[in-house]
Formats: sequence, C-alpha cells, structure tokens
Amino acid sequence: MYSRMPPPARGCETALDTTATTTHNSELNHVSPLTYGEKMPHDAPTAPETFPPSETTVANAVAREELFERAAADRQGFWADISREYLTWDTDFTSVLDWSNAPTAAWFGDGRLNACYNAVDRHVEAGLGDRIALHFEAEDGTRTDYTYAELKDEVSKAANALASLGVATGDRVAIYLPMGPIAVISMLACARLGAPHSVVFGGFSADALHSRIQDAGARVVITSDGQFRGGKALPLKLAVDEAISAGDTPVEHVLTYRRTGQGVEWTDGRDVWWHDVVDAASSEHEPVIVEAEHPLFILYTSGTTGKPKGVVHTTGGYLTQAAFTHKNVFDVHPDTDVYWCTADVGWITGHTYVTYGPLLNATTQVIYEGTPATPNKDRWWEIIEKYGVTIFYTAPTAIRTCMKWGEEFPAAHDLTSLRILGTVGEPINPEAWLWYHRVIGGERCPIVDTWWQTETGGIMISPLPGITATKPGSAQRPLPGITAKILDNLGEEITDETPGLLVIAEPWPAMLRGIWGDPERFKETYWARFEGIYFAGDGARYDEDGDIWLLGRVDDVMNVSGHRLSTAEIESALVAHDAVAEAAVVGAKDDTTGQAVVAFVILREEYIAHADEQGEGTDLVATLREHVRREIGPIAKPRDILIVPELPKTRSGKIMRRLLRDVAENRAIGDVTTLADSSVMDLISKGLGR
Ligand code: WTA
Repeated sequence: MYSRMPPPARGCETALDTTATTTHNSELNHVSPLTYGEKMPHDAPTAPETFPPSETTVANAVAREELFERAAADRQGFWADISREYLTWDTDFTSVLDWSNAPTAAWFGDGRLNACYNAVDRHVEAGLGDRIALHFEAEDGTRTDYTYAELKDEVSKAANALASLGVATGDRVAIYLPMGPIAVISMLACARLGAPHSVVFGGFSADALHSRIQDAGARVVITSDGQFRGGKALPLKLAVDEAISAGDTPVEHVLTYRRTGQGVEWTDGRDVWWHDVVDAASSEHEPVIVEAEHPLFILYTSGTTGKPKGVVHTTGGYLTQAAFTHKNVFDVHPDTDVYWCTADVGWITGHTYVTYGPLLNATTQVIYEGTPATPNKDRWWEIIEKYGVTIFYTAPTAIRTCMKWGEEFPAAHDLTSLRILGTVGEPINPEAWLWYHRVIGGERCPIVDTWWQTETGGIMISPLPGITATKPGSAQRPLPGITAKILDNLGEEITDETPGLLVIAEPWPAMLRGIWGDPERFKETYWARFEGIYFAGDGARYDEDGDIWLLGRVDDVMNVSGHRLSTAEIESALVAHDAVAEAAVVGAKDDTTGQAVVAFVILREEYIAHADEQGEGTDLVATLREHVRREIGPIAKPRDILIVPELPKTRSGKIMRRLLRDVAENRAIGDVTTLADSSVMDLISKGLGR
C-alpha cells in the first residue's frame, strides 16, 4: 500500500501552494484550534555550538550594529530613513505609518514612485548601464547576459506591448512562465505599468491556474510554449489553454514566448507571440508613477482551508524592506558580488530575492532555468564556479538532497568564490547546516537562516553577517525595525524557553495588505488569534541566549520541500474523486523533504466491493496519487495514501490529525480520550497491519 513519491517535478525551489475544489466533507474547511503543544516537528536545541562572524564580513559590523540602535530609538523614523536611502521616490512622503485602518497598514502613504524605475532605470541613469543584471544559465548550458541597459530596453518593450494589448494601470496580469529572464522582464513590465502581476508557479496544474486567474480577474496571461526541465521540453501553454477554455475568466489575450519551439494550439485574436509584439515594440517607455500603496502584486499561497489566498503586496513598503533586507542580510556589495538565489519566481522568495531585492540594489545575479541534476548532480556547483558566485541562497530541502547525493559533486568544483550562504523555507536541521557550512562554505562563509513568509514580504528573523555568531538550526534575532515576540495560548508574552506562538507585534513595511477580494479572511486568519497582533502560524521558542528557534507550523499548513501546502486543499482534491468518501491529510516527518504528504482515505461502499472483486487496491492508490497531481500539481502528490475504515474524530466531528500523524510517523498512538469513539484507532492500526 505504501508507495514512495519521486522528487517533485521542480524539486529545489522554495515555497508553494495549490487550488480549490469542492468537498463532500464540510469538516474539511474547519480551522482547528491552534494547540501548539500538539505539533512541534523540530527538536529543541541542546547546547548549541556557535560560529563567530568570519573575517570576510566583520568589516561591516559597526554599521549593522548601528541599525539596531537607530531602529530601537525610533522605529518609524528608522524605516522612513531606510526608505529614502534605498529607494528613489518621485514624490517624497510626509506620512510614515498610518495604522488607523488596521489591520490594513499604509506605509509612506502620500509618497509616489515606480517599482521598475527603481529596479532598473535609475541604475542606468547613474551610469551603471553596462553592469550585468542577469546571467541567465539555460538548462542546456547556454549563457545569456543582460546588462542593466539591456534590461531597461527589454522591460520597456514588454510594457509597451502589454499596453498595446489593453493592459492599463490597475489591471491584473497572470504570469505562467518557466524560470528565466522573460519571467523577470514580465514582472517588471507589469510593475512599470502599475499593473499588479500574479505569478503562478509553472509546476501548477491547469485547474490551479484557472482558479488563480479567475480569482485575480486577470485580463492577460503571459506564458511560453513550453519549458525545459530535466533535459525534456515540457508543454506549458497547454495548461493555459485548458485553464481558460471554459470561458469563465476575463482573459482577453495570451502573450506567448517561444522557448522550446514545440507545437502549440493557437486561438487567433486571443493568442499573440512575444516575438511579434514585444520585439517590435519601442524601447522607450515612461514608467507609470503610482502611490506607495498601489498593489504591486498578488501571490497565491496555501492557508488552512481549501481555497488559496491571494496575498496582496503594495509598492513603497514592500520595496523598502526588499532592498534593505537583501543588502544587509546578505552583506551585498553590488560592485563586486555575484548573487544567486535558486528560488523560482513562482514563489515569494523569487519575488523578493530574485526580481526585486537584487535589482533594487543594482546587483549582478545568476538565474538558472533547470533542475540541479541536469545533466549531472554537480550542476549547481558548476554554475557557482562558472560565474564566480559569491552569495548563494537556497532551501534546506535542497541542501539535504545534495547531502544525500554525496560530497564528490561539490568537491569537483572550485567554490572558493563563495562568501555568504543563506537558507529559507523551513527549519534547517543542524546536520544539514553543518554540511552546508563545511562542504559548500569551506568553513569560511556565514550562513544566514532566514525566517519569513509570503505574507511578511521580506526576511524578518535572521543572523546578520559580521555581527552574529551563528548557531546551526536557529534563525536567531529579528532584524532591525521588526518586533517579533513569542506568546502563549492566552496571549501572554513568553520570555523564557517555553515553546509558544510566533507573532509580529508592530506593523512592518512589507507586510501583506490583505487577501485579494476577501477582507474577512484576512482579519480572521492573521489578526483574530491575538487582537491587533500578527499571528504567523509558526511555533517558536527562545534558547538560553535569547535566540529564536522556529518549531514548524502550528496550523493545518504543511511544509514539503519548503513548499507550502494545505491539508484541506489536498483533502478536497481527494474527495473530489468518485472512489473517496472521506479524506484526512497530515504532514509527516521526512528526512529529505522536511514533511511529506500522507493521506488517510475512506473509500465509498460501492468502490470497496468493486476493488475487492478486481483486486484493485494498489492501483487505486496509484490512481488517487495521480488524481492529486492532476488537480493541484506534482508537489502535492501524497507520498503515502493509506486506505482506512474510519477516521479519528472528536465529539464535535473534528478530525484529530495528531493521532494520524502518530500513525504516519510510526509512533505509539497518543492520548485518544477525546475521541468520540476511542476504538477507531485500533481499527485503523489493525487495518494497516500494525
Ligand atoms: C516556514 C517562504 C523555519 C515557516 C519564505 C513559515 C521557516 C513558512 C523558515 C512560510 C526558516 C520559512 N526557519 N521555518 N528559516 N523560513 N519557514 O510563505 O513555517 O512559502 O511560516 O514563505 O515557511 O512559507 P512561505
């Protein structure tokens, strides 16, 4: 019955989410009470070893210490100064934070600016036009460099082309593209017009894409014929065609970039080739100046219910924090560094630390199209050597995968250019941290373990190179200007080493401004747990030095390979299948992916009889896994599907996932006294032959 899941199709990117389908089980949309004691996947620290700041970074220590002092003395004044220092405002602001419409903040509210101008044009104006902005490494090894001047021409052309397709300021544009310069250019072109982009990860299914296009009300979709992954040309536009085929979205045009040259279906009038409209467009384009609070993008992420949330970020505050954190967390020296973040632009990490942060700081960066194992398992290390990468940012799941592959792959390359290493997406286990430090960093590079979320927009908790003695497994301290706290269930602040709930007590510039089209859900999800305080959904605790250790999600959100998945979304995909009466999904510990999706499924009566007759039990598991892949995407495919006769429920009908996690992780079953029927767990265990 157990079946092992192959690595996700796009395995080493950070962050994730999925789509909504109908459910036969009304309980699935029930948000469980947050009992943090129930679920703490990450073990607490024991006598942590520390690594002092390395010589390569201490030079900037004094300036960084000062940031903390300035922020502590006058938090809002600090952010105002930072914003003016890091961004070029078309109209300066007089108001810093307006919290009168809480929980929707306005930062720098009467200021005006353009995001693309800040990321591109102003660098060209400052004489940096010849600096490389993007080194694009295609999967087949082809290298294409874009200078800032070239990038300015390309985004201007793309902005003119989008305008010619009817895209105006405020219109939403969906982007469904492979990782590459066209994705970055498309995002920036939207920003240039003040048209919020909604990037949908290219690994999502047509269904997932459909619900996102519809929810955001996108008028144009930008896609490509196909994408190269693992040496193969996979279709991409096909999913767009399918997503809009029902005619229930406002999409008027599909702008299609030719990447692989494979055949595509074509709808005249609706579909346009990038090379026809963008290449022919003028490279002169005046960026549209917008208000600081103008929405820059929507990015869908998983919550505790079946429907993904369209997290809204606006312009001035988001860019301020993107630029500031990128510069300081990674100790970026734009004139000498070569930066590489392996995230896909389909995730928040790709938004803030590929498209916006690095370009705002006029950094030279690498973007890579393909998988880490194409053509060989040393591909990443080859790229670091090829471009002389100095700053490298990736996810713990990728590090664990590379660990499994073996040290010989990095050892075959000269990695001495590296200066700073970073991780994001999930807690990093000390073993992986130490391997990263020794094998990749040659014991000389500080590691920044950065905690943040789609909702926070930028890094919130992280060591700072040059001043923090790092500790394997701990994200350590909130950044200057960020007020993180740990509260108990009753909202009392915890200052000792007791585990509690992570909150952000004061508004911050890059905070989400809402959930697209759903203000109530915004309030309920983040602001109702503790009145007026942002509830992150993560467990955390301090160690004896006051450093923060993240303990994993305390809600029904799973973290698989650093990708966010909601249990309810996968459950509703499962119950949408005819064979399934009820489903419960849990995230079980997994050595490589952090957590893995494990589904418990009750079959419909008629199916049980049928399956018994045909001996189809195993096939059905394969069918259901495939069904989830089709409904949501490869990353959501359960590692294991267990067919069970019953699910453990409380008297009020809530599924007790804690007990199912015990089963999934092969542990002794915990306390069953709150179950409506305490014999259910025996029934389940017996059925599974335990
Ligand atoms: C988890 C990704 C521990 C956390 C940027 C959070 C982490 C969720 C870390 C957000 C870290 C992210 N240590 N846990 N350094 N970074 N997380 O929205 O559970 O895809 O709530 O944003 O990832 O995932 P998201």
